Parts: sequence; structure tokens; C-alpha cells
Amino acid sequence: MANILVTGGAGYIGSHTAHQLIARGHNVQVADNLSRGHRHNVAPERLHVVDLADTPRLTALMREQQTDAVIHFAAYIAVGESTKVPELYFTNNVGGSLSLLNAMTEAGVRRLVFSSTAAVYGMPARVPITEDMPFEPLSPYGESKVMVEKILGWMDQFRGLRSIALRYFNACGAEPDSGLGEEHEPETHLIPLLFRAIRTGQPVTIFGDDYDTPDGTCIRDYIHVSDLADAHILAVDHLLKGGASDAFNAGTGSGFTVMEVLRAVEEVTGRKVPYSLGPRRDGDPATLVADSTKLQRTLKWTPRRSHIKAIVQDAWAFEQKRVAR
Ligand code: UFG
Repeated sequence: MANILVTGGAGYIGSHTAHQLIARGHNVQVADNLSRGHRHNVAPERLHVVDLADTPRLTALMREQQTDAVIHFAAYIAVGESTKVPELYFTNNVGGSLSLLNAMTEAGVRRLVFSSTAAVYGMPARVPITEDMPFEPLSPYGESKVMVEKILGWMDQFRGLRSIALRYFNACGAEPDSGLGEEHEPETHLIPLLFRAIRTGQPVTIFGDDYDTPDGTCIRDYIHVSDLADAHILAVDHLLKGGASDAFNAGTGSGFTVMEVLRAVEEVTGRKVPYSLGPRRDGDPATLVADSTKLQRTLKWTPRRSHIKAIVQDAWAFEQKRVAR
């Protein structure tokens, strides 16, 4: 049993991870300013409504809780938004992380699991992507994650802060039995938008069907949020056992086209998805698929629920609950 602080634990991946940590008997506290997360995702006695920029409060919280490790999710995640207001992304994602790192240093906490992203690779020269491929982000969002990964490298060297960066591919799915799932505002992710099209009858736009892929739509590596949560737990266990700093791709190694996901949604829901074909979205690579061999070998991670049908089933079950709220 360890004392774990989860920043951004009221958000999508953070809430699933916090839930699994609690199920494994850890003492979990959540720090979230609720700017994008949801109060209903966290039990009130665990929730500390605090901004990442508030270094003294974070320090006090970690001292009081005798925190052993931090899992740091709190960040903005919208690629498109980051190109419109880049300063917001650097302030929140980089500035916020620095504030947290200062608080950790003050409080003597030396273990951190960090939410990174496949966006650090930009348009990769080849797929599947391995961790040694260069950082070539195409958005302030991706750059903000690169910057924090680099800072973590220096903190390892000169502060003895051990960290694991998990570079997520396309997180999706839900744990409907726990009432947890994806609910971003505004929503930009494919699966929730396909459900919205079913619900409202307003067509979803497919961003481009002229890519060099079997059906012309983009290929992505969809990873179930429960499997992602598992990866965080293995990462934090590794650090708590004295493991070294590292970075891992968190994806399944299999890719699906946008149209394949749309068909899976139609199959699971038994409903037609109204859609229209639109132009490509800026910055979308044709194919993003992870080579996650390193994560599987080093941390003994195995994706269990990342089949497209299981993902859509769980996401759809959550969608019914969310709409009924
Ligand atoms: N898509 C559409 N129409 C939509 C929304 C999405 O066709 O209305 C397509 C996209 O073009 C893409 C696929 O569906 O091909 C998945 O799009 P998402 O927006 O759901 O996810 P992304 O692959 O763009 O982004 C994800 C994460 C980002 C992360 C990125 C890494 O959400 O945080 O992977 O490359 F940066």
C-alpha cells in the first residue's frame, strides 16, 4: 500500500486510474482544479480542489499525506485548441508541471508517472512507432509534452527524481459499472462524436478519405482506458520498487481506420451513424500505431480490453448512463 497523489484525477484517464489504484488498496488523493475534470468522478473525501500553479498547497498536501508517488494527468489535451491559444498550453501543461515538480522537491517526493502522448512524434517516418524515434511535435500541445519529458530527464539526473512517461495513443472506452467514461467539453474525440451523431441525427464529419490507407481514412491505435490505467499502475509499482526512469508507448500495436470504427459503432449500437465526408484535418498523420513491445516486456503489461468491439461496447454503455443522468 502506497500513498499516491493523482493530479487530474477527476478527468478521463485519471479517474479510471484512481479507481483502479483504490481497488488495489492504495491510499489515493486527487488534486484537480475541476477546470476540465468532473467532481462526480471522485469521492468527496479524496478530492482536493487545487490548481497546479499553487505550489505551496501542493507541497502541504504531499507533506500531510506523506505522498510516496505522484501520477500526473492534469493537463489540457486538445490539439486544435493548442494551435489557437498556445500560451494556455505552455502555461498550464509546462508551467503547471514545473509547479508540481517544485512542490515534489520541497516535499521530498521522488517518483512520478507522467501522461505523455503520441503527439510527441508528429508525422512519424515509419509505423509502428518505437520510443527511440525523434520528438517532432506539430502542435503546442505535443510540444508541451516534449518539454515536460525533457525537464524530467534533467530532474532524474540532478534531483534523483525517477519518472515514467507514458505516451498514449488513442485512449477510449469506459468503465460503465463504475460510472466512469469519456466526457470532454468540447468533445473532439471520434467515438463520442459518433455516438453524438446517432443521438442527434446531425452527421459527424469524417476528416478526409484520401489518405494512403485501405479505405482512405486515417488509422489510429485505440487503447481501452482500463488497459491504460493498468499501465499507470505497473509504472508506479516499478518506481516504488526502485525502478529507473523511462518512457513507453502505450498503445496496442493494432490500427483501425475511421470507417472501421464507425462500422464497429453501428454493429454494437444497431444504429446507423449519419456522417458526411469532409476535408482532412490539419496535422492529422495518415497512420499512428504504437510499437508497445517495450512496455509489454519491461513492465509486463498486456492489453486486455483493447478490442475495438469491447471498447465500443463499454463506451456505449457509459453513453447511456451519461445521457440518463
Ligand atoms: N476524426 C474524424 N472526425 C471527427 C473526429 C475525429 O474523422 O469528428 C478522425 C480523426 O481525423 C482521426 C481519428 O478520427 O483520424 C481519431 O481522432 P481523435 O480526434 O479522436 O484522436 P486523434 O488521433 O486526433 O488524437 C489523439 C489524442 C490526442 C493526441 C493524439 C496523438 O486525442 O490527444 O491522439 O497523436 F495528441
